[in-house]
Amino acid sequence: MQTAASTGADLQALLAPLGDAQYTADRCSALADVAAEIHALKAARRAVVLAHNYQRPEIFQVADFVGDSLELARQATRVDADVIVFCGVHFMAETAKILNPGRPVLLPDLRAGCSLADAVTGEALAERKAELRRLHPDLAVVGYVNTTADVKAECDACCTSSNAVRVVEAMPSRHILFVPDKNLAAYVQSQTTKEIIAWDGNCYVHHQITPEQIAAVRKALPHVRVLAHPECRVDVLALADAVLSTSGMVRYAKDSPAHEFLVVTECGLSDRLLLEVPDKKFYKSCKLCHYMKMITIEGVRDSLRTLGPEVTLPEDVRVRAERALLRMLELGG
Ligand code: 13P
Ligand code: SF4
Repeated sequence: MQTAASTGADLQALLAPLGDAQYTADRCSALADVAAEIHALKAARRAVVLAHNYQRPEIFQVADFVGDSLELARQATRVDADVIVFCGVHFMAETAKILNPGRPVLLPDLRAGCSLADAVTGEALAERKAELRRLHPDLAVVGYVNTTADVKAECDACCTSSNAVRVVEAMPSRHILFVPDKNLAAYVQSQTTKEIIAWDGNCYVHHQITPEQIAAVRKALPHVRVLAHPECRVDVLALADAVLSTSGMVRYAKDSPAHEFLVVTECGLSDRLLLEVPDKKFYKSCKLCHYMKMITIEGVRDSLRTLGPEVTLPEDVRVRAERALLRMLELGG
């Protein structure tokens, strides 16, 4: 996703569909200078920039690849560069590191966490797994990628929002302990006859969206198509026309004959849609993820200048976590 914008004026014109007052001529001129330095540093360092769909729009302009968690994990298996700069949250950069043990993976701000990843530890999961296996000897553990490497190391397979149902269906077990998102677990349960045992975690961004908010928009604008992320509450998902991963929403909006959509997820995705699908209208029922927004374009530049901060993890944990990630890629595309 390289930009054609090389000057501040180009960038301001490119970002105009966002209608965001922070992109003044001065700010866009400063951003264009930082972007130019990033392009030069990427070439000098033989670096690649991978970015999640929730990142800031100026980061989309310097990224080599923008996608959802599954696409980013797949992309991480195909890297040919010497250095990976990850624009997203810690578990995503850690996933790239698990799949690229020989390459430095830089995360511009190591504090960029995730409320789901904080909801479970490897130790707590190991205990719960042992307890449940006494009741259900066939039990398998499916872990959302929004987890630390310690937790992935305790899982039989990982999954993302776009392949959770497929992975659960492909597991040769009837009982599935699903960690850590109880909302995604409830959504998977609605799509399978297997028995899902949910962990009690949630994404603070999606969990705060209420059915009343969606119903109010539906009443005022009955023709809009409602696209919701499966981290939303089950009573919110019940009001959606489609339940999709972030990139699934982009594909749906592009391919659908509908022209107006309500986007029920983090706001960065609405920005991507406004920039990439200019002929359609997107209403935001979105919230900001403050972790995702800790990554700035200046931080990306500084990472490329200093080659830090780097994501690291113990090799024994990495090897066990990699097994669960590769199982996901094998079972769930
Ligand atoms: P996606 O895999 O759908 O991009 O979701 C990642 C995420 O963190 C959602 O909050
Ligand atoms: Fe984690 Fe939620 Fe932020 Fe996604 S939006 S990174 S799940 S806190």
